[in-house]
Amino acid sequence: MSNKIIIINGPNLNLLGEREQSQYGSCSFKDLKDICAKKSKELGLNLEFTQSNIEGELVNLIQVSRKNFDGIIINAAAFTHTSIAIRDALSIFKKPIIELHISNIYKREEFRHKSLISDVATGGIFGLGIDGYILAIISMQKLLKNEN
Ligand code: DQA
Repeated sequence: MSNKIIIINGPNLNLLGEREQSQYGSCSFKDLKDICAKKSKELGLNLEFTQSNIEGELVNLIQVSRKNFDGIIINAAAFTHTSIAIRDALSIFKKPIIELHISNIYKREEFRHKSLISDVATGGIFGLGIDGYILAIISMQKLLKNEN
């Protein structure tokens, strides 16, 4: 059964709850991790929850995920708008990918309107706060179930 998923978080998301609460809310990164673990367990998914501030580390994580995971949920944070390397790594991953943003990137500064990863993702969620993580886990479970 395909049930191994990874949530990959990009730069500054480790400071959730502390950074720009008007955009990202007050839930801490640790609490978000716990919420995601609980939801995944409930749905029978085996979750790995990761974060890095370093572009190359994110690329390595995505590459390794090819062998170890059935689906990727990614909030690439600021690298969404700049990283061809992350986009290229994702396009080598031939399984479901969900792009996620806590804030509505299209309501914010113009430089956030462009995502380099949307067209290599299966689908995306933005602007729904940290609930987006729960919704992404639910959607990923459905995508993996339909594959079997
Ligand atoms: C973000 C949106 C990005 O533009 C920003 O750089 C982030 C977080 C979001 O979750 O809303 O760090 O990906």
